[in-house]
Amino acid sequence: MNKNTTESLWWQKGVIYQVYPRSFKDSNGDGIGDLKGVIDKLDYFTTLGIDAIWLSPVYPSPMADFGYDISDMVDIHPMFGNLADFDTLLTKAHQRDIRIILDFVPNHTSDQHPWFIESRSSLDNPKRDWYFWRSAKPDGSMPNNWFSIFGGSAWEFDATTGQYYLHSFLREQPDLNWRNPEVKAAMFDVLRFWLDRGVDGFRLDATHVMMKDANLTDNPLNEARVQGFKPMGGEYDSQLHINDQAHPDIHEIFREIRVLLDSYSAERPRFSVGEIHMPDWKRWASFYGENLDELHMPFNFHFLFAPWNPQALQKVIDSVETSLPEGAWPNFVLGNHDEHRVASRIGQESARIAMMLLLTLRGTPTIYYGDEIGSHDVNIPPELEQDPWGKNVAGIGLGRDPERTPMQWDGSPNAGFSEAGVTTWLPVADDYAQNNVAIELNDPKSMLSLTRRLLLLRRSTPAFYAGSYQTVAHSHDDCLVFIREQNTERWLVALNFNAAEQTLSLPLTGTGKVMLSTELDREDSVDVSAVHLRGHEGCIIKLG
Ligand code: GLC
Repeated sequence: MNKNTTESLWWQKGVIYQVYPRSFKDSNGDGIGDLKGVIDKLDYFTTLGIDAIWLSPVYPSPMADFGYDISDMVDIHPMFGNLADFDTLLTKAHQRDIRIILDFVPNHTSDQHPWFIESRSSLDNPKRDWYFWRSAKPDGSMPNNWFSIFGGSAWEFDATTGQYYLHSFLREQPDLNWRNPEVKAAMFDVLRFWLDRGVDGFRLDATHVMMKDANLTDNPLNEARVQGFKPMGGEYDSQLHINDQAHPDIHEIFREIRVLLDSYSAERPRFSVGEIHMPDWKRWASFYGENLDELHMPFNFHFLFAPWNPQALQKVIDSVETSLPEGAWPNFVLGNHDEHRVASRIGQESARIAMMLLLTLRGTPTIYYGDEIGSHDVNIPPELEQDPWGKNVAGIGLGRDPERTPMQWDGSPNAGFSEAGVTTWLPVADDYAQNNVAIELNDPKSMLSLTRRLLLLRRSTPAFYAGSYQTVAHSHDDCLVFIREQNTERWLVALNFNAAEQTLSLPLTGTGKVMLSTELDREDSVDVSAVHLRGHEGCIIKLG
């Protein structure tokens, strides 16, 4: 609930849907999705019942990191269309009451961005300090010991001036120096450009690396082998990322971004969600701001990395509830363009209860495109591999192509993503003829039908979009049970993670009505002191 009003704001009440534009819908037959494709599919978003689209980058880019290496932050890549197409998307989305959230990439530009081309041209170029340039140490070694997240040293030698520049990701993605006021001013101009055009908010990319130690001090060794969310490769995990990540000065930048967003919010609330990989709950929660004056939400990635069992998930939910500052709004994520598909991580049989969990918890859910039809990772043969991370740090499953394959719209060649005969940028899943939007829309028991029913129920039920959350104690290790409540309405959510059926004894009395089962085949009255669930079944029960 917003601090100052009793009304939920759109980003609290609503559900965000991430579109990875390269893979959503190709309107011009080049095998790559584009903005016209997204416009063509606007009715789908309404049919589905989501409230906001987060668009991964569509700016001009050499595509070394598929758009996260931007060479012009205030234009659209011709591959995706142009600014007029973007304006059309915005207008038409708004007509349907759908918000547009853009990906803002503050940490770096492309090495082809005019700022960097200038910066690298000479030691005394006025933009030299816009990036991090350092000489080798006297012994000839790198300026410091930092590693790139995408493998290898974070420093790249540039022969023009004989110095190294810093890149937290690819060498084609030089880091911007946010301590330089001109950089900050230029980046705020970028935000203003899109806010003036009417966007509803931003997903802020890689904000955990945006502010670093001012002296670029070496990272200490990670002797205790503390690990972040996931293994990142030996070199990267050999250090504690104390000096190259999340310097406390980031809070001030977030506050200034918030002031800017708020200055646009009188007309309609603008919003920020930050990508910030922060396993420590206290630090994660600090990015809402002490006075709730920083990010509207730092993404909560814990479900992506928690073992898929009720105890681990319960711990995540409890940690969210206990670490949130008062008045801060929670959020949950099950998938994105950087992580393997939820259906592949936890198994297709569990994907339905995962969707039910995501859409019934307290807090804003973000759905990754395709998860609503149960899309899974696609195995990409080495010769078709595209992702630079997968190529640089090979062999430990960091490649992100499997979760980025074309959306499966129908059973026609190329799954209706692109015209027949076109070679798509990544291969289409080979089961597309059975698993696609068209088939699932017509199947009342499909994953898509379940997602639509859940979205409809969430949208029409204040207990779900605004109500309180309460865990229900029970004796089954394989189940997760909670109540969502608003005013006099109480809803029970019971999820069975086991393949075997269970009868849950619950500390509740009376009868309830099953309003939705993950199997979409029951609407019976039940005795809520003993709720029976089939294997991998979840139920939403309205308490009397
Ligand atoms: C973020 C993006 C990821 C990208 C990286 C560098 O983590 O989500 O896709 O590769 O930043 O911009």
